[in-house]
Formats: sequence, C-alpha cells, structure tokens
Amino acid sequence: MAMIERQFSGSEHSRARSDTGEREVSTDTGYRAFYAGGFEFRRDEYFARISWPDGSHMMPIDAFLRALMRDVAWGFFYGVVNFDGVFGTLNHYGEVTMFAGRFNEAYRKEGRDHEERFQSAALMAVFQRILSDWTNQGYDPFAAPMETGLPWGCKNGSNIAAIGRGRVTAKRMVGLPGDTPMRSDQTGFPVNRQFADVPQDRPVVESEPGFEHEVSAFNLFAYLSRSDVTWNPSVCSVVGESLFCPTSEEFVLPIEHGNDRVEWFLQLSDEILWDVKDKETGRPRARVLQRAGDIACMPADIRHQGYSTKRSMLLVWENGSPAIPGMIARGEAPVVPVKF
Ligand SMILES: [Fe+2]
Repeated sequence: MAMIERQFSGSEHSRARSDTGEREVSTDTGYRAFYAGGFEFRRDEYFARISWPDGSHMMPIDAFLRALMRDVAWGFFYGVVNFDGVFGTLNHYGEVTMFAGRFNEAYRKEGRDHEERFQSAALMAVFQRILSDWTNQGYDPFAAPMETGLPWGCKNGSNIAAIGRGRVTAKRMVGLPGDTPMRSDQTGFPVNRQFADVPQDRPVVESEPGFEHEVSAFNLFAYLSRSDVTWNPSVCSVVGESLFCPTSEEFVLPIEHGNDRVEWFLQLSDEILWDVKDKETGRPRARVLQRAGDIACMPADIRHQGYSTKRSMLLVWENGSPAIPGMIARGEAPVVPVKF
C-alpha cells in the first residue's frame, strides 16, 4: 500500500528526470552503452549489465530483450513491470520510476534498493534505442523462442521491422466498411503451427436491408491463431472503462507483472500455469493452473508470471479507469473483486 500512496501523491516527485542518452560503442562487441539518470546499460555477448551509483545487476540478454520489448510496446503498462526479481519500471502515467531492488524484500531490508523517476517520454526514448541497438538481425524478442533466431554474440545487424511493429487500430467495429483495411481474420500472417486445428470459418451475418454497413462479426479464435507475437495483449473491445485484451501465449511471460488493479484472466484455449507472488516483497503466494474455460482474478496486490508450453489463447479483462489505483491506495476499493 505504501508504494501506491507514493505513486499517486505527486508533488514530491515533481522533478522527474529527463537526462537519458547514449554512451560509447564497445570496441569489443560493437554494442552501444546507454544511460538514464544514474542508471547505465551495457550488453556483451550473453548479458545485459545494468549499474547504478551503488550497485549493479545482470540479466541474460534474451530475457532482458523480451522484457524490454514488452515495456516499450506497452508504454510501461499498468503498475509494475518487473524484468526479473530486481530490475523494472513502475508506471505513474506520464512519469515512470525505474528501480533496482524496489520490489525485492532482501534489497529493501538492507537498504540497497535504488529508484529514479523519469519523464515517461525520456525513458521511453532511451529504451527504444537500447532495444534497437541490442537486437541483432534475425532475432525477434516478441516471438516464441522456437520461432525466432538467437540473440547472442557480438553486434550483427538489426531487426527494426520486428521491434517496430505497430498496433493495428480499428476505427469502428472490426470488419465494417471504413475500418482498417486489413480484415480482422486476415491479419496477413499464416495460422500458427500450434493452432493448426483452429477453425477459420467466419460468422454468417444476415442484416436487415439498409443495415449492411452497421452489423459485423468476426472469428476471434481465427484472428488469434494468426498472431505472430506472444504475450502481447491487444485491446479488442472498449465499453466504458471495460477493456477486453486477448493474446496468444507461448513459453514464459517475459515480465513479472505487478498489478495496480484486479485483473481477470479467461483461458480461451489450452493451459497456462501462473506463479503468483506478493507484489511488494516477491514472496510466493500461489500457483494457479488455468485450463481452457477457467476464469481467475488476479488481485491488485500481487505480481504474476505465466508459463505456456503449448501456445494458448488468453483473454485479459481489466477496468481501465485511471481512478482505480488511487481508490485502492485510499482503501476505497478492495484488492480483490469480491470478499466472501
Ligand atoms: Fe497483470
């Protein structure tokens, strides 16, 4: 709770930093180094190396790039994006805290945690440059590990097309005239190898004469079966503050997401095993196996990471109201959807 209160108290953090940028290119590996405030980022053949005035941390480069890709693509997302048990970002929506050890019980207990607050645009700019410089030709941090090349070694080209994917944004009900030209069930990608059994038929829509341009339907399963990315929820419907975000999942969710509101998971196909930990300390709280048709609600005071061997489909349902994190912090809203 203390974290959330600080998150929304605002005034004490009015001097968010914007000093981010590039350092030299390594003559050994060809990768550029970067900085954001007191944090410094370097990569070598196998690892991302992160340092700050009083400490340092390292991550395997594949795990770092997969996490960085999501943090960039999701605009720092809701709440906390833990790259691992030490490093990550906390979104204040316009400003963002980058931290080391902030949500790690041992770091906190010993006073070794470090955090700096940034203007979101400034940190996003340097994150994008790190992602661009450190992603080699043939490696796609959005793809399942068996569907992409390897991230290791010295600098070897780039993969701007993969890391620069833009979201397809519908202008009105998907499939209706005037919507984005790419039909929802024809994403331009083939059906994924693990979704070969997903029917590709389209719903039959019989509209009254005169309403042909106002009634539509599409096959969401067919759409998801053609996704070329993993662990990348897309908003598929917005009703008030209610956001439906379907996604296809394979291997490991690249981050441990620390929620700032309750979040519903509806498993549409196959299964995902979730590790659920305390949001503040990282202490284990639960393991949840969700099979097709199962619905779970992740509380607002946890972090979660999922594992999916067989590519699966998940629908994430959130209340996107910006008021909710503050309501939870003030005790006006519970951290669970219902109390029995
Ligand atoms: Fe979450």
